[in-house]
Amino acid sequence: MLLFILWTALMGPLATVQAKGSCYAYERNPYVLFSTYTPYEFVHENSDDRVDIPKCHPVQFWILSRHGTRYIKEDGIKEMWSLRSLRDEIISNLDKRQGRLCTQDVENLKKWTPQAVLTLPNDLTPQGYRDAYYLALRYKSRFPTLLNRSYRPDKFQVQFTDTQRTTLTAFAFIDGIFGSTVDIELPQPLSPDPVLKPSDYCTAWDEDVNHNPDSMKEANAFLYGPEMQSVLQSVSRRLGTNITNENLDNIYTTCRFEKAWHVDSVSPWCAAFTKDELKILEYKEDLESYYKRGFGNEMNKHVGCPLAKDLLDRFSKLENGETQPSGVFYFSHDTDIQLFFTSLGVGKDRINITHSNYATMARRNWRTSLLTPFASNFAAIFFKCDRGEPFRVQFRLQEKLLRLKGCPHNRWGLCDWSVIKKKYGYISDTCDLSFCFKEMTE
Ligand SMILES: *[C@@H]1O[C@H](CO)[C@@H](O)[C@H](O)[C@H]1NC(C)=O
Ligand SMILES: *[C@@H]1O[C@H](CO)[C@@H](O)[C@H](O)[C@H]1NC(C)=O
Ligand SMILES: *[C@@H]1O[C@H](CO)[C@@H](O)[C@H](O)[C@H]1NC(C)=O
Repeated sequence: MLLFILWTALMGPLATVQAKGSCYAYERNPYVLFSTYTPYEFVHENSDDRVDIPKCHPVQFWILSRHGTRYIKEDGIKEMWSLRSLRDEIISNLDKRQGRLCTQDVENLKKWTPQAVLTLPNDLTPQGYRDAYYLALRYKSRFPTLLNRSYRPDKFQVQFTDTQRTTLTAFAFIDGIFGSTVDIELPQPLSPDPVLKPSDYCTAWDEDVNHNPDSMKEANAFLYGPEMQSVLQSVSRRLGTNITNENLDNIYTTCRFEKAWHVDSVSPWCAAFTKDELKILEYKEDLESYYKRGFGNEMNKHVGCPLAKDLLDRFSKLENGETQPSGVFYFSHDTDIQLFFTSLGVGKDRINITHSNYATMARRNWRTSLLTPFASNFAAIFFKCDRGEPFRVQFRLQEKLLRLKGCPHNRWGLCDWSVIKKKYGYISDTCDLSFCFKEMTE
């Protein structure tokens, strides 16, 4: 008994001090790199200064954008609601002095109620509309000669996939560019769409890669490996209750979506994790996409070629003096944008990421938080120059200047079109999705 009193007297204050030090609610720079649920607000280039390059003028603006922040899918809504009983258990265990959450984090959990309802699965959120609307405004201010002009159907081409979230994202972008969405000629989305959504179109990829259990080997090995198991244990200790892998996933997903929906608020569920634990969870997500859509499978770069071909073909036409729209706006999904990146070599590392090289791949290029957050976008701007190389291209990822592999760029981020053709021209010549239907021809 005496020992017990002594122990609580010593450990009590110590525990409070420790808890205070790790109060998530007061964290000024919380870690928000949440793989494909990363809020766009935290990763994009902010400056919208007009791009003025001596002796050069832009002639085409091409952009491929993912839809903005969306609601959770239907299963996720149910899982989010199911967190209420776990929350109650955590709170009652904390009263028994289990768990190590600080007072404010506990208060936030007590006040928490799930904000997802069943009528809106996967739809664009108000934040998702703002993501695309302000993205458009910033690009309009960077390239006014191309984008700050009145609408004409031959000057602007818009295309989106057959979902509410990409359609509404396109509307938000158009609203930002033209100040309204009336009078804009919008094409009927295709389903399946071999250019914007090859993942839906390519049955061979869907069978051989997407639904092949081998594609999950590394992610699953990591899930049962030492890093993830230690996350499971420390989160259990912090919450004062032994959680399962499913609980962990559910808490992580809820934390990520709530932050993305309300970028200025704190999701109480994020308090379950430290920054280092969030990095481990991020890596697990990256392992899955790397083998399903990235450089971990040879087929991926072939499936991702149609949009790369579209871009290269348009620039070739401009080089040959053919007319092209000033703006080409495409809206698609993380899967297809990752396949497109793999085709172009964006996000490539020298070494494959695996379940066993987490520590050495901390600075990997395949980081889906930075490659495909919500509203992720890749832009290519074709320039005509009066001095030196006559045609040049600027690439941007999340609005920041991007250097493609083998494509040295000058201080304005311009890479010579002749270099791009030499390095990437083969994509145009070889892109062919007929391999996708091998079964049908057998
Ligand atoms: C577009 O041009 C108008 C008129 O010159 C200007 O007032 C406006 O600020 C421009 N918009 C952007 C986003 O640059
Ligand atoms: C959690 O699991 C550990 C080890 O299996 C056990 O010692 C502990 O009592 C459990 N805690 C709770 C709150 O169930
Ligand atoms: C990485 O994985 C790909 C696809 O499995 C494989 O072709 C390639 O040889 C691997 N690269 C290295 C460096 O191990």
